[in-house]
Amino acid sequence: MDKINLGQCILAPMAGITGYPFRKMALKYGAEFCFTEMISADGFLHNDRGTLELLKTGNDIDKTGIQLFGSNPVILAQAAKKAADNGFKVIDVNMGCPVKKVVKTGAGSAILKDVKLFSLIVKAVRQAVKDSIFTIKIRSGFDENSVNFLEVGKIAELSGVDAVFFHPRTRSLMFGGAADHSLTKKLKEEIAIPVYASGDVFTINDALRIQDFTSADGIMFARGAIGKPWVFGDYLDANRTHLDINQKIDIITELMEEISLFYGRERGHNLIRPHLYNFLKGFKGSKGLRCMVNNAKTEKEILEILNILRTANNEYTRLD
Ligand SMILES: Cc1cc2nc3c(=O)[nH]c(=O)nc-3n(C[C@H](O)[C@H](O)[C@H](O)COP(=O)(O)O)c2cc1C
Repeated sequence: MDKINLGQCILAPMAGITGYPFRKMALKYGAEFCFTEMISADGFLHNDRGTLELLKTGNDIDKTGIQLFGSNPVILAQAAKKAADNGFKVIDVNMGCPVKKVVKTGAGSAILKDVKLFSLIVKAVRQAVKDSIFTIKIRSGFDENSVNFLEVGKIAELSGVDAVFFHPRTRSLMFGGAADHSLTKKLKEEIAIPVYASGDVFTINDALRIQDFTSADGIMFARGAIGKPWVFGDYLDANRTHLDINQKIDIITELMEEISLFYGRERGHNLIRPHLYNFLKGFKGSKGLRCMVNNAKTEKEILEILNILRTANNEYTRLD
């Protein structure tokens, strides 16, 4: 197996966000590696149409990991093998998703509640994809009474998992409170396999601070990358001249074109919305524009919003 080298800044898996167009743009503007959103192991084995769309990679397959979710070790192992046969070199299993629909099937963060099952899954998947890079993405535990990231981290290391992506919140916290990166630091100190930090990476300064504090092997950008695919390049070269607003609007427009091309205009304008909304959040006085984003019904209306921003950019002051 190749030595694991996913780089220092990675686009995190995000359901509904990290489809092919956004991954392509993130890689183009500096991400060193990216992940598909979580994909049902079962759906993948059954060639579900929706699942196949999530897997599209173009020429980027060497820089794209597939993230699988499920709770059955045999099915996860079969899906991992199929992913490897389809050319994915990096296979991740989701053990952090807090969403009820997923947790009630025993998948995502529910796996952390059952250390025996956790162990069976990592062993089965490792066995199935001996030549692939096999990673897991975990939270700190299921709830405050079962914070067990060190225990599962050590089992992962002993079972041959290649790296851990760590979001230091329990499932019960969902996205509340602050990610506690003292736990990331602890995990990094306690296990020898690479640990990547995820959680509350909204700005370049957050990423630099978390990297410095935890000594993590790399940083995952999630919400902080929505509508801002240039954050990766900014992070890797913190001294470079930052793009100006018109350059950023050009990139957002490019992202919108990619999204429309891939999903069609009808679906496209809904999928660009979270990107544009998050991008605008960084501008003081942009509340009215964000309302317009929420109400926009066509791609033309979205383009108009970008035009307003472009022609009146002195009125909107960048906050970050
Ligand atoms: C909209 C959304 C979808 C997400 N989907 C996934 C997913 O499919 N798989 C996963 O492992 N994590 C998923 N996450 C969690 C992120 O990968 C990341 O760990 C989390 O957002 C913490 O990072 P942040 O605080 O910097 O956003 C998702 C997060 C968001 C906001």
